[in-house]
Amino acid sequence: MEILKLLALTIWLMLPAYTPNNFAVLVGGGKPIDLGRKFVDGRRILGDGKTFRGFMGGISGGLLTGIVQYGIEKLSGFVYYSSFGLPEILGFFIIFSTGALAGDILGSFVKRRLAIERGGPFPVVDQLDFVFGAFLMSYMIMPGVFLSLFQRDVILTAIIITPVLHILVNFLAYKIGKKDVPW
Ligand code: CTP
Ligand code: MG
Repeated sequence: MEILKLLALTIWLMLPAYTPNNFAVLVGGGKPIDLGRKFVDGRRILGDGKTFRGFMGGISGGLLTGIVQYGIEKLSGFVYYSSFGLPEILGFFIIFSTGALAGDILGSFVKRRLAIERGGPFPVVDQLDFVFGAFLMSYMIMPGVFLSLFQRDVILTAIIITPVLHILVNFLAYKIGKKDVPW
């Protein structure tokens, strides 16, 4: 596949996994998922950066993104997500974005165990936990849809370009004051 087309297709297919985190940043706050509790090591289980509102808002954001993409495909004649029926692909969008947020939560769990405070950087894990979360969860629950959309080239491209995109977007979020640190 031509490189530019591969890049564009990868970003297109990854969007419902990319946007949940941004929506979580925008709507997050309130009650933390770990309810403020500590793990056996005396540190927070997840920390104040993982909230119920961020989680639900993130899933809604991923689903919304997918629905808009589905509509755009129907109008423009591109057929990726729209090669599936609406109920099935809605399920996929929910699972894909839930996986992204679950990966992000797992990343925070690991960070706290390594004594990295909330918001502290953990290179590679910060940039890829949600990608693996989205891939793994959708592969486990909807392998047919996942494998037909995400071929090997797309998966590899996603793993390479996501850290770059992630750093760019977080830097923007930091600049507009939505994040305290640029990672
Ligand atoms: N957020 C949230 N709920 C989530 C995920 C994210 O409320 N499930 C919000 C929080 O306000 C969080 C921000 O989005 O601070 C940025 O997310 P992230 O970078 O993942 O969290 P950090 O604050 O960096 O915390 P951690 O060190 O645990 O990654
Ligand atoms: Mg962070």
